[in-house]
Amino acid sequence: MDAQTFLKKLDSIPDIPTLPTIVIKVNKMLQDHDTSIKNLSKVIEKDQGMVAKILRLVNSTFYGFRSRITNIPHAVIILGFNTIRNAVVSVSIIKTFSGEKSFEGFEIKDFWRHSVAVAVTSRYLAEQTRLDSPDDCFVSGLLHDIGKVVLSQDFTELFGLVWKSVKEDGLSFYEAEQKLLPVNHAQIGGHLAKKWQFPGSLIDSITYHHAIRKGVSNLNQLLIVHTANNMVNSYQSDSDMRPDFSSIDPEAKRIMSGQLETISDWFPSIAAEIESACEFFLKEE
Ligand SMILES: [Fe+2]
Ligand SMILES: [Fe+2]
Repeated sequence: MDAQTFLKKLDSIPDIPTLPTIVIKVNKMLQDHDTSIKNLSKVIEKDQGMVAKILRLVNSTFYGFRSRITNIPHAVIILGFNTIRNAVVSVSIIKTFSGEKSFEGFEIKDFWRHSVAVAVTSRYLAEQTRLDSPDDCFVSGLLHDIGKVVLSQDFTELFGLVWKSVKEDGLSFYEAEQKLLPVNHAQIGGHLAKKWQFPGSLIDSITYHHAIRKGVSNLNQLLIVHTANNMVNSYQSDSDMRPDFSSIDPEAKRIMSGQLETISDWFPSIAAEIESACEFFLKEE
């Protein structure tokens, strides 16, 4: 099976995760410059679960506002359209992809913990370097590996092959995919993001997070997510805090040299932030 056939097959799966209507609507509204705060708020207010979650999020330490935000129009005014969109996307995607259908040994909770850690780290890198919007980088980090979930749920056999090779041959997930599959999780995730009509920078950051492509629309965002993913992975595998950055792209190393050099100073301190983001996003209602 070649890559094209694989992605065609992916398109034909009947229960391929469709996004909740609220995400599609909010996304569409933000592409339309005439959208008013009132109209956007109305769409969100139709989903009371979402309202509660958004209000909890904007009032959490995550955004650090002092005054209490009690309704959606107020939240939109304070945080802006883009941040609200990102919050709606984050909350909905995690909910959509936390189903019970899972592969043995591949825990969806662990998957989301990794994703949240990469999201928080991406946001931090964006804040420090000012290379891109921290908020957009958070969402990119959160979704970078979404293709893995689809692979584990809808291509169980192929996922099994990769998983076995990871365990037995000591390969990384990506290396095993390169060896065994026609496409990798990054391409699968990017394909879905395109189908969901996500912004181009998000599609590219998902698609190329393991194999940097210089001509993308937002190279900075891609490099940030790529670097954050490597940082999180090497810190998780090396408890002695001697991280291995050999697979980070040279250009990423150059523009984030300051953050890479000082990682042992700041990484432990964002661990608490990762913890509270996990607490917020992964808590079951
Ligand atoms: Fe990945
Ligand atoms: Fe990852």
